[in-house]
Amino acid sequence: MWKLAPSILSADFANLERDIKKIRDAGADYVHVDVMDGHFVPNISIGAPVVKALRRATDMILDVHLMIDRPDKYLDDFIKAGSDIITMHIEAPGYSEEVIDRIHAAGRKAGVSVKPGTPVEALFPILPKLDLALVMSVEPGFGGQSYMPVADDKMRTLRRVIDEKGYACEVEVDGGVGSGNIAYVRSCGADVIVAGSAVYGKGDVDAAVRGLREAAPV
Ligand code: DX5
Ligand code: ZN
Repeated sequence: MWKLAPSILSADFANLERDIKKIRDAGADYVHVDVMDGHFVPNISIGAPVVKALRRATDMILDVHLMIDRPDKYLDDFIKAGSDIITMHIEAPGYSEEVIDRIHAAGRKAGVSVKPGTPVEALFPILPKLDLALVMSVEPGFGGQSYMPVADDKMRTLRRVIDEKGYACEVEVDGGVGSGNIAYVRSCGADVIVAGSAVYGKGDVDAAVRGLREAAPV
């Protein structure tokens, strides 16, 4: 069964504990936490203090997506805050393979993401050590954008290479996924599907999660 990672970027920031309980009760797998710094992406969202508060509020897996410059500089804050999976961008200044090793040394899972304009082949050298490869299907920075088909072949390529080589890496897709395209995205090879507005945008979180599961039963 594929995993659902609702993005709390589309939740109510004044009621995060309540909104995380909703996705937990609905059977979601990860809490996707979008961290934006106003440099790597145009927006500023939340940082390590909020991750720390979420850690106290839930035992769900915190899937932290760092859309920031200098992940090397801020990494320790996100480790200490209690992140379970930490994903950074290969395009970010300060990204290096050494940061992946530091995440593992802290006993956490490491992910690396590619933006729509970055070839997926950039991830090949690090795939054997990655826990998660994140394919962006929108330009990072905003929720509620339309899915970009450039992600299709990237997921297919990752799926093929990971299966051929027997790597343990999950393929995650992020941006513009909803009940209308989730089956297709799944057929491209994604194991973990991020959904922000499709989960939180319509008011009834339970019905939204059910709708996504029914749209992609396998
Ligand atoms: C975009 C974020 C996404 C976003 C997804 O920069 O990384 O996680 O919240 O939102 P939707 O599902 O609405 O495209
Ligand atoms: Zn994200």
